[in-house]
Amino acid sequence: MNGPLTGQFPALRLRRLRQSPALRAMVAENRLTRDQLVLPLFARPGRKIRKPVASMPGVFQLSPDEIVKEAATAHAAGVPAVLLFGIPDRKDARASGAWAANGIVQKTVRMLKKELPSLLVITDVCLCEYMSHGHCGIVRKRGDDYRIDNDPSLKLLADTARSQAEAGADIVAPSDMMDGRIGAIRAALDQAGLTETPILSYAAKYSSAFYGPFRDAAESAPHFGDRRSYQMSPSNTAEALREVALDIQEGADMVMVKPALAYLDILWRVKSEFGYPTAAYAVSGEYSMIQAAVERGWLDERAVTLESLMALRRAGADILITYSAVKAAQWLEG
Ligand code: PBG
Repeated sequence: MNGPLTGQFPALRLRRLRQSPALRAMVAENRLTRDQLVLPLFARPGRKIRKPVASMPGVFQLSPDEIVKEAATAHAAGVPAVLLFGIPDRKDARASGAWAANGIVQKTVRMLKKELPSLLVITDVCLCEYMSHGHCGIVRKRGDDYRIDNDPSLKLLADTARSQAEAGADIVAPSDMMDGRIGAIRAALDQAGLTETPILSYAAKYSSAFYGPFRDAAESAPHFGDRRSYQMSPSNTAEALREVALDIQEGADMVMVKPALAYLDILWRVKSEFGYPTAAYAVSGEYSMIQAAVERGWLDERAVTLESLMALRRAGADILITYSAVKAAQWLEG
């Protein structure tokens, strides 16, 4: 009964397989590779513009020429994909900048695909950055109150996804959380002959305070109210599974859970119940928390970033969307 010390239960010596780097690597159950990384980028009109985002050290709003440079560096480091967001010159009540054939994202996609044809370009499909009010759908005022009008918003979202795919986007990624958007987008893509463009759905997207720094970066904070009538409540799990099931039924090729670290349980459930290619988005607030502690010398950036990304892999993520993608790729190289 004395176990390992007497040699009766040799299998209890779990440290045997931790003795050397080679042994530890050989028995690693999960691996991080550069193939899984996606770098989000913020495109704004102009030339030679690199405008730092105050709450996200190391992240910039970039003009299309600078996006191409940044993407080239990322690609050379081994990052296979970027996720594009746009900050238009003008915002309005129909989000015209989102679906304009010559919108900031469409323009940037064309440049990226021309200069870096083997880089995967994913485009975020949403309206909030392009709406004068900052909501992800059409707003209908009702006296002092307001509603987000689901069905009329679908047409704008579908037009946005189609115009991005026509510009050359490899994957479209709707993040608006309107009901029925995946079906509407799939139909619009198919009608336009874009039957081979996959949809990565932000399927389980929570209404999260961790998006705070992103709204500075994308200038997309709602001017009134909040996003709780369309994004999910942090209290819910079963509802996330229904969101994912519906999106898959409507034609999603890949699904996403967002945010990541605070929602590892959701990631695990989504991957184990559906087995679909699953992305985790380590959102702006997750990045900023780590960066703030790193700036103070309180955390080791490399160790903490890689450990966090490994947690996403362990929980079931196949695709890791992270503002640290370039650094992670460099760290993973050797
Ligand atoms: C747009 C969108 C948001 C994020 C991705 N797409 C913000 C939001 O819903 O307010 C958040 C990304 C991040 O925080 O890094 N709807």
